[in-house]
Amino acid sequence: MATQRTFSILKPDATRRNLTGAINAKIEGAGLRIIAQKRVKWSKANAEAFYAVHKERPFFNDLVAFMTSGPIVMQVLEGENAIAKYREVMGATNPANADAGTIRKEFAESIEANSVHGSDSAENAAAEIALCFKAEEIVG
Ligand code: CMP
Repeated sequence: MATQRTFSILKPDATRRNLTGAINAKIEGAGLRIIAQKRVKWSKANAEAFYAVHKERPFFNDLVAFMTSGPIVMQVLEGENAIAKYREVMGATNPANADAGTIRKEFAESIEANSVHGSDSAENAAAEIALCFKAEEIVG
């Protein structure tokens, strides 16, 4: 498997509890390199654009409200098989189902306040990275 890039967000529940460093330690400990990172506060329009694929879901409005409730840290991660590897490090979407040692098992508060987002496919990784970072902000 070749080197890949994936897109990551440390969500408002994580920044609120000062967990950026603890989560980054898990990411780097798994062999993923943080090759871009910025802390921002999303507008409603930013969150709606990012989560457009979930527009019809019953949790969409709550998700947008949560993702705009505080600062987030957006990242590009690089490594062997980075997309699948980061999903493994994150653990299941619902922390109740997440394996021991994963970010969500250790830190997530609920299925909504689940501390991190990671791309679920190569196509979405490329689209999410392009939406949130300029090429010159990514230093591999
Ligand atoms: P994320 O990887 O950021 O992508 C969509 C998010 O919606 C997901 O993580 C969850 O945090 C959030 N979410 C809230 N409620 C649900 C739900 N019932 N099922 C799936 N995702 C949910």
